[in-house]
Amino acid sequence: MTTKKAPNGTGIKRIRLLWSLFLKERSEPEPFYQALGAEAAFDLEKRYGIQGHRILDVGCGPGWYAEAMRKYGAAVLGIDGDMGVLTRAQPPISGLMLGDATLMAFPDNSFDGVFCSNMLEHTSSPSMVVDEIIRVLKPGGWGYLSWTNWYSPNGGHNMNPYQYLGPKWGPRLYEKRHGPPPDNRYGEGLFAVHIGSTLRMIRQRTDISITRIEPRYWPWARFIIAIPGLREFFTWNCVIRFNRRN
Ligand SMILES: C[S@@+](CC[C@H](N)C(=O)[O-])C[C@H]1O[C@@H](n2cnc3c(N)ncnc32)[C@H](O)[C@@H]1O
Repeated sequence: MTTKKAPNGTGIKRIRLLWSLFLKERSEPEPFYQALGAEAAFDLEKRYGIQGHRILDVGCGPGWYAEAMRKYGAAVLGIDGDMGVLTRAQPPISGLMLGDATLMAFPDNSFDGVFCSNMLEHTSSPSMVVDEIIRVLKPGGWGYLSWTNWYSPNGGHNMNPYQYLGPKWGPRLYEKRHGPPPDNRYGEGLFAVHIGSTLRMIRQRTDISITRIEPRYWPWARFIIAIPGLREFFTWNCVIRFNRRN
């Protein structure tokens, strides 16, 4: 399937649609993630032409992104560390496997593209995940790395906006007042991953070339990424695109 039309529309229409789905995300996750999946797959198809690409979706969740990329003819495998999440879609989406993104059982140079959406902030070892993503990419292959950074308005997940008190006091105060969150508890399923430190880690690498860094939902505003401090709030969700060097 190829289409030239952006699946969620453009401009204000797109933001309104995504925002209305995001507000219902807790009770109805599927429409929101399907819309994001369609958008991501459309973007990757436009950028790289993913038909026939062998793609790995790291921290794939229920597989909505994998499903969306398959509509463009990509062969997608997904890996996630939580069996409950892998079977959440009904019926479950095929081609997903249980595994740890910090130590993946794939040989080096296995994939044309590696997609990793919103999992970096859920691991205590983001740099090990990045190592693994690059290891399994073929030379010249593309990488997509996006995450919700800690000081994003959604960075605290269940405990928004307590993250603004910092990773030491925010979670403590939240839990004192509300009890532990149902998921993504700080230090277990959620970690403070900042844009500045992640960019420093990524820019040190000599085995990739970074092609673009941008806010995921408003990529036109990528000038924000160059402004320390402000970027930690206004980016909301940061995307780093890169290619593995030959
Ligand atoms: C918020 S979900 C993101 C799901 C999907 N990629 C998306 O963008 O909607 C984060 C996922 O990362 C998975 N995850 C966290 N740490 C992991 C690890 N070390 N190895 C594999 N999966 C991991 C979690 O189980 C969870 O399903």
